[in-house]
Amino acid sequence: MGERDRAERDWASLGFRYQPTPWRFQAVWRDGAWSPGGLTAEPTITLEEGATALHYGQQCFEGLKAFAGPDGAVRLFRPDRNAARMAASARRILLPEVPEALFLRAVTACVDANREHVPPHGSGAALYVRPLLLGTGDNLGLRPAPTALFRVFCSPVGPYFKAGLAPIRLWVTARDRAAPNGTGAFKVGGNYAGGLLASREAKDLGWDEALYLDPREHRFLDEAGSANVFGVLPPARPGGPERLVTPSSPTILPSVTMDSVLTLAREDLGLEVERRPVPLTEVGDMLELGCTGTAAVITPVAEVGHAGGAFRLPRAPGPVALALHGRLTALQRGEAPDPRGWTVRV
Ligand SMILES: Cc1ncc(COP(=O)(O)O)c(C=O)c1O
Repeated sequence: MGERDRAERDWASLGFRYQPTPWRFQAVWRDGAWSPGGLTAEPTITLEEGATALHYGQQCFEGLKAFAGPDGAVRLFRPDRNAARMAASARRILLPEVPEALFLRAVTACVDANREHVPPHGSGAALYVRPLLLGTGDNLGLRPAPTALFRVFCSPVGPYFKAGLAPIRLWVTARDRAAPNGTGAFKVGGNYAGGLLASREAKDLGWDEALYLDPREHRFLDEAGSANVFGVLPPARPGGPERLVTPSSPTILPSVTMDSVLTLAREDLGLEVERRPVPLTEVGDMLELGCTGTAAVITPVAEVGHAGGAFRLPRAPGPVALALHGRLTALQRGEAPDPRGWTVRV
């Protein structure tokens, strides 16, 4: 893509859709070792019809973003966290781990090769990076794959929820995303296939997205379909700081963005931070509720509907969501100093 095409491309109205870029990275695991891997222009994958990824869902994936900065540099946000999480997912479903060095080399090579497709600074868009680990090889019975394929591809994207910082409305689904001792804390495809219907039902009822409760008691907040949630509570004592609370639950995906938000809330905004089970009824005490994740960034929630009624949040978007959004995106886009070394230049 030439400079002129870049200048003319409508980056600002990109949705969260797949837009192919010229290059992807691929490595293969066979006989107990990873191939060095390399870039390929081929956008399709050829698999054995017996591949365990196709039959038994033996696959996992990741999602992270690269951002263009005002200085022209391209930065990835905390890719080491995604490498660690993919390794944890692989261990849970008996796929070979992708070593951190291979993961980081693949992600960096893919972003570098597709540099012209990184949306320009100021567009509000980013280059989404999707690492994928598949169980492959001839197989029929339920057993771990004899070989595996690791692929990374990229796509320029806009915000996941169209309206950006405009608030959304969540519907508490009666369905479960994950079982109590199942795979909810891992980024495996099966968790998501099972959630498609809950999302569709929420939308059919006029809400934006489904909100899951804990699968054991259906009493505590878990997470939204592709984002963690956090609430803002009034100070615990007069004159104290407001509190940012997020569910601790064995069935939610440990979000890289939520982890970053907790640090920013505590260290930069001076809030008290609590990670604990959060009963649905406590939403009634909250000043703000938000979703956070790579795709959702910070998305304020205006209302939570459930079978017994609805909670309306008094501040949507509120000052905490706005401040977190400002801090997080400034860091990711290289507009603010990065004292914690979260960004990695490509
Ligand atoms: C189920 C689920 N929860 C939370 C998140 C947010 O995680 P992260 O901040 O690492 O993108 C995602 C998206 O990756 C997700 O799919």
